[in-house]
Amino acid sequence: MNKKIGIIGYGSMGKMLLCKFGESGMVSNDHLFVANRTPGKILEAPDKYTICVSNKELAEKADMIFLCIRPGDIKTVLDEIAECVNDESLIISLNGSVPFALLENRKEHKYAKVIPSVTAEIDRSQTLISYNLLVTEQDRKDLEMLLSTIGNTIVLPEEEMGMGSELVSCMPGFIASMFDVICRSAQKHTSISPEQVKEMVLSTLTATGELMLEKNMDFEDVVERVATKGGITAVGADIIYERFPQVTDEMFEKTLEKRRMTAQAAQKAFGD
Ligand SMILES: NC(=O)c1ccc[n+]([C@@H]2O[C@H](COP(=O)([O-])OP(=O)(O)OC[C@H]3O[C@@H](n4cnc5c(N)ncnc54)[C@H](OP(=O)(O)O)[C@@H]3O)[C@@H](O)[C@H]2O)c1
Repeated sequence: MNKKIGIIGYGSMGKMLLCKFGESGMVSNDHLFVANRTPGKILEAPDKYTICVSNKELAEKADMIFLCIRPGDIKTVLDEIAECVNDESLIISLNGSVPFALLENRKEHKYAKVIPSVTAEIDRSQTLISYNLLVTEQDRKDLEMLLSTIGNTIVLPEEEMGMGSELVSCMPGFIASMFDVICRSAQKHTSISPEQVKEMVLSTLTATGELMLEKNMDFEDVVERVATKGGITAVGADIIYERFPQVTDEMFEKTLEKRRMTAQAAQKAFGD
């Protein structure tokens, strides 16, 4: 790919993307630019990337500008780079809470939103993407090709990015906490070591997911295969189907409410 990639914000996400794009070989190292508010932090970046002294310098050079910054910092950075950004470049926000309308209010431009998940670390992210109306077919192709280096891409309309984020970006945290609870409960009834319990459950979890994907099975298909009527698995599955919906309904109500509050706070930070 012949595009110049700029990363503003060398935090958790910026560092990960820079590293992954660099490793992929899809972008040559002299086409990778990075800038951070605290310059000291960035000095640890491998010297193969070009470190820019300012966001403005980066915006002048890059064709794709990733804003890997917190929602409260987006307005400041957009205002800072507004004059230097090339009309053809694509500005990509990593934040799902700041709507395109707010970004466009600062500057009419081509914008995308990108939400990767932590599984990008092993190149298995389900990365969500949304575009505003000015983004061209070629921009889409380029961005989706670049993001294929960290896994699959899923294009969603802007209004679905919230629930989409719960399903792929928050989900590793939800899955980890659910299975943490399961392992702790199991531990009360066994002398098998916690490490072995974790290993047994995790291996079964990943194998079940892969089995379902490979054989095109639904969740009910798996339950039906394992939980014979009146059998032991059925007793456990019945309790989960009876009691667990209350927990998950409450979880989504709370996370979506938190998302709305974050969007309101972002709106305030934009002063709109
Ligand atoms: N973490 C996740 O799993 C995840 C997943 C999907 C999306 N996101 C989104 O990705 C964005 C970044 O998250 P993060 O976890 O990477 O945050 P983070 O670790 O806090 O990193 C933010 C970085 O932005 C830099 N920054 C702040 N203002 C700046 C400015 N004016 N100019 C240049 N750099 C500036 C900070 O620099 P300093 O060194 O000065 O602090 C810091 O290095 C957020 O909007 C978040 O919602 C995160």
